[in-house]
Amino acid sequence: MPFDIQSLIHARLGENYDLHDRYVNRAFVKVLRTIGFDRVYARAQGAYLYDQDGMDYLDSLGGYGALNIGRNHPVIKKALADLLALDMPNMVQMDCSLLSGILAEALVKRSPPHLNAVFLCNSGTEAVEGAIKFARCATGREKFLYCSGAFHGLTTGALALNGSSMFREGFGTLLPGNAITLDDFDGLERELATGEYAGFVFEPIQGKGVYYPESDLFWPRAQELCRKFGTLLIADEVQTGLGRTGRFYGFEHWALEPDIVPLAKSLSGGLIPCGAILTRREIYDKTFSRMDRCVVHSTTFGRNNLAMTTALATLQVMDDEHVIENSERMGKALMDGLRVLMEKHEFIHEVRGKGLMLAVEFSEPKSLRLRAAWKLIEAAGKGLFAQMVVIPMFKKHRILTQVAGHHMDVIKITPPLIIGQKEVDRMIAGFDQTLADCYKFPGAMWDMGTNLVRASLAARKAA
Ligand SMILES: Cc1ncc(COP(=O)(O)O)c(C=O)c1O
Repeated sequence: MPFDIQSLIHARLGENYDLHDRYVNRAFVKVLRTIGFDRVYARAQGAYLYDQDGMDYLDSLGGYGALNIGRNHPVIKKALADLLALDMPNMVQMDCSLLSGILAEALVKRSPPHLNAVFLCNSGTEAVEGAIKFARCATGREKFLYCSGAFHGLTTGALALNGSSMFREGFGTLLPGNAITLDDFDGLERELATGEYAGFVFEPIQGKGVYYPESDLFWPRAQELCRKFGTLLIADEVQTGLGRTGRFYGFEHWALEPDIVPLAKSLSGGLIPCGAILTRREIYDKTFSRMDRCVVHSTTFGRNNLAMTTALATLQVMDDEHVIENSERMGKALMDGLRVLMEKHEFIHEVRGKGLMLAVEFSEPKSLRLRAAWKLIEAAGKGLFAQMVVIPMFKKHRILTQVAGHHMDVIKITPPLIIGQKEVDRMIAGFDQTLADCYKFPGAMWDMGTNLVRASLAARKAA
C-alpha cells in the first residue's frame, strides 16, 4: 500500500500516550497523566485545539511562543502548497538560494539599520549557539554574562547561559560565565568592568516567570556598560520577538540597539522550524573572515525552502492582519481584566508583562483559613498552588496554560497574537471561576491540591 499519512493518522489516533510511554519520554507522559493533560488532539485552528470529540481548547500557551499567527494559518498552508507545486531545487548547498536571500532582506528591513547581516538556522537554541560563536570570534573573549532565571535553550552552549540550576544539573562543566540578578546595577558594572566578557546575553522579558527589570534604566545601562567595556549586547528575541510583546522586537520597549539578536519560534509560522541571527556586518564578517572560512559556521537545513517560505509568509501575515497592534491591544485588555481579578481574589499577588506575554503570580492569601490551606500545599513544593489552578483551567474551562517555571507560583499566558475579545473574556472568566472555587476549604480544589502533593512526594521518594 502506498504511504498515506491521513489513513495512518486515522488508524492510530489515540495511541499517542502509550507510544510515548513505550518509546519516547516516560517521565513526561507520567506528568501529563498525573495532571490530566493527556488529551488526544485531532485538529487545530487559530487559537484553538480540538480533541477527538470535537471539544475546543483555548490555547494560552501558543506552542511556547511559536504560534504567534495561530495554528494552521491558511496563508501559510497555501504558501507551502504553492512552493511544493514548483519542484524547486532545495538544499543545493553550493549555491545561494533565492528565498533565503529574500528572507534575510525582509528581516533586515524590519530591524534597526545597524542589524544588517543575517545567519539562518533552524531553532532558538541554535540561534543562541551561533550568537555565542559570533561574539567569541568578534571579541576574542570566552566568557558570557547572563541573568539569573534566564532561559536561552538547552544545547550545551545555550545551557551555559541558563540561570536555573535545575536545567544545568547533571550535564557537567559548561562554557565559562557568570549570572547577575535583574536590577543589580553594581553587580552588572563590577562584572562588565573586568573586560572578560564576550557578550551579555539577556531576554528583554524572561520566558521563565515573565520577569524583567523593575527599573527601566537597567537594560539601557547594560548597553552603555557593554559599549564601554567592549562586551557585545545580545538580545535573545527567540520568544519576545515577532510581536509577542506588542512590538516587533521586545528590546524596542527600552529603545536598545543590541549587537546580536537571535530569533526563532514564530518565524516558523507554527509549521516549519526556522531560526535567524541578526547582527552588524562587521561582527558577521569576523567569523566569515576569509574564503577558507566561508562555511566555518553552517547548518545543513538552515536555508531550506520550506522554512524560508513559512517565515516570509508569516511576516506578511503579521502586516496584513496587524498582528503586532492586536498583540498590544488584546494584551492590554487581558491585563486590565486580570488586574480587576486581583482586586477580587486575595491569591493574586501580581499581574505583569507586555503585549501578550503575561504572568499571573500568586502568593499566600491573607485570611487565616485559606492561609493554612495554602501552607499545606506549598509545604510540599513551591509552585503547587499555581499547578492547582492550571489543572481546572484546563479540565473545567478548557484553557491550556502552564506554570511559568520550576518552583514558582506563576502562570504564564502566551496565546497566539490573533486572539480577540472573546478569547480574552474566556480567559478572565476561567481564572475568576477557578479562583472563586479556591475559597471553598475543604473543597474539591484543595482535595486536588492534596493529590498533587501526594504525587509530588511519591515522585521525590522514587528519585
Ligand atoms: C528566550 C529563548 N531562547 C532560546 C530558546 C530555545 O529555543 P528552541 O526551543 O527553539 O531551541 C527559547 C525556548 O523556549 C527561549 O524562550
